[in-house]
Amino acid sequence: MSINLKGRSFLTLKDYSAEEIEYLIDLAIDLKEKKKKGIFEKHLLNKNVALIFEKPSTRTRCSFTVGCVDEGAHPEYLSKDDIQLGHKETVEDTARVLGRMFDGIEFRGFSQDTVEKLAKYSGVPVWNGLTDEDHPTQVLADFMTMKEKFGNIKGLKFVYCGDGRNNMSNALMIGCSKIGVNYVVASPKSLFPDENLVELCKKYGEESGASITVTDDILKAVEGADVIYTDVWVSMGEEAKTEERLKILKPYQVNEGVMKATGKESTIFMHCLPAVRGNEVTNEVLEGPSSVVFDEAENRMHTIKAVMVATLGENI
Ligand code: CP
Ligand code: NVA
Repeated sequence: MSINLKGRSFLTLKDYSAEEIEYLIDLAIDLKEKKKKGIFEKHLLNKNVALIFEKPSTRTRCSFTVGCVDEGAHPEYLSKDDIQLGHKETVEDTARVLGRMFDGIEFRGFSQDTVEKLAKYSGVPVWNGLTDEDHPTQVLADFMTMKEKFGNIKGLKFVYCGDGRNNMSNALMIGCSKIGVNYVVASPKSLFPDENLVELCKKYGEESGASITVTDDILKAVEGADVIYTDVWVSMGEEAKTEERLKILKPYQVNEGVMKATGKESTIFMHCLPAVRGNEVTNEVLEGPSSVVFDEAENRMHTIKAVMVATLGENI
């Protein structure tokens, strides 16, 4: 089947089929190989890309910047203090102005509604670099890394430990259920994912063969896991909840005991980073032989480049 994503926005993996997600992963693998060989095909030559950041970022910002430059585009970083988005100017107006000047727009911020409005009113592809609800570009990097480690990823058991209702857990549950990876969330009951989202992902799973399990029993959850994943206990913007989170999430730390409870030597440890060592993961696990976190971080760049090239590129 030939896949053409030209002109599409990338707001959530809900909008993408399993074949489209696999296409983006394979394109990223190809772009990675080419970059290692020094081949740059400049699919984004003469394009201008706006990078809007309401929240801080290392990996996502640098991935978009390097991805643009590698492919011949100009990236323009716009922090929340540089523009009036949603304050002195409506999101709709900013979207229409940026859409007249830029060929593509990345947005990282709070509201999923903002990224959707940018896509609706700008008329150019908009890419979600993280919102409170979702983080779809991270999931592509995670799947690419799993593909590099395991080959075929369909049917793997993926266990997410920690804050089961944050952007990473949501995005991973959507992605896994779309492409046929069995997804387990191990978190305290008060942080279980939204029931409507679980139902939606179960529907995706009926088509892909993925199961979705939500439990508060971490040691049982990780039995037989191929991937153990965690994320910070306090996401950006939720700092006021720090004390409560540290208390309720302590039993969900990924440590040597949790890694052993998988019963498998081959289990890999993943984390989107940045990590708080001693909270959601111990230093031993993060630095240990099962950890693939820096491959994941590198793959952010190749996958984000693939998203831009697929949706905006020429000669692809
Ligand atoms: N994983 C991730 O999105 O990292 P940054 O917050 O540094 O972009
Ligand atoms: N859940 C984290 C992800 C960071 C990449 C946050 O939103 O802060």
